[in-house]
Amino acid sequence: MSESANPEKALIITLDGPAGSGKSTVARLLAKRLGLEFLDTGAMYRGLAAAAIDAGIDPGEDEAGVVNVAITYPIRFDWTADPPRLKVGGRDLTHRLRDPDTTGHVSHVASMPEVRRVLVEAQRRIGREHQRLVTEGRDQGSVVFPQAQAKFYMDASADVRAKRRVEQLEAAGRVAKHSVVLAQIIDRDHRDTTREDGPLICPEDAERLDTSGMSLEAVVDHLEARVRERVGQQQAERDGGAGVDGASGGTAEDVLKSEVTERSV
Ligand code: DC
Repeated sequence: MSESANPEKALIITLDGPAGSGKSTVARLLAKRLGLEFLDTGAMYRGLAAAAIDAGIDPGEDEAGVVNVAITYPIRFDWTADPPRLKVGGRDLTHRLRDPDTTGHVSHVASMPEVRRVLVEAQRRIGREHQRLVTEGRDQGSVVFPQAQAKFYMDASADVRAKRRVEQLEAAGRVAKHSVVLAQIIDRDHRDTTREDGPLICPEDAERLDTSGMSLEAVVDHLEARVRERVGQQQAERDGGAGVDGASGGTAEDVLKSEVTERSV
């Protein structure tokens, strides 16, 4: 089941940013274009919140109860599905991830230091087992994968993010009011950026991208081009060439085409 680390083949790309910045959709599309796997770490915090609620725990009142669920219920993705489905303690909770009660509690659950410790460790394990990964969240470049080959921080104004969320919810058949969603986003931003453990920050070595005026397609195009450039540069550096001009497109292709040797489910 375990996969020995192979730094030549490992390719981790991190995408961090606030709620509604479009990270999940962008990360999934980017992973497809580059032939990499995709990790949605927000889903892990959401799955844990849902599992705790379903176990009769009120996350607002019972931190020890939530931590106990985090420690005793393994959180796993079924990578055979596309997109991967999330199981917590063996139960498929994919359908619960966007439910209002889950969304209402998840930020608080994600602020619990012991919960973060358990989930950061789980994410690093996934990174060892799936070494060619686009991973998205709040702390992926800063805390979980500081060694990532390419890091991005996606942002957009709160108003634009609220508009996008309303469209998403309406497309899923839910009624959503802009002012309510905007207030939730501002509240979540505040909690995500001010928590003590793993706060949302733009890592120093990440490229910041404001997507407010950009289409989805344009964002994915931009990130894909930047990753190919970075991979080409890093490959040229590894090959010992003085030239770091990134022009070795074929070499970058080779790195991007490397096969994942083994997968775990
Ligand atoms: O991206 P999302 O909306 O699915 O994230 C759900 C919550 O989990 C949100 O409050 C931020 C938190 N989160 C986090 O703290 N760290 C991560 N790596 C991913 C999500």
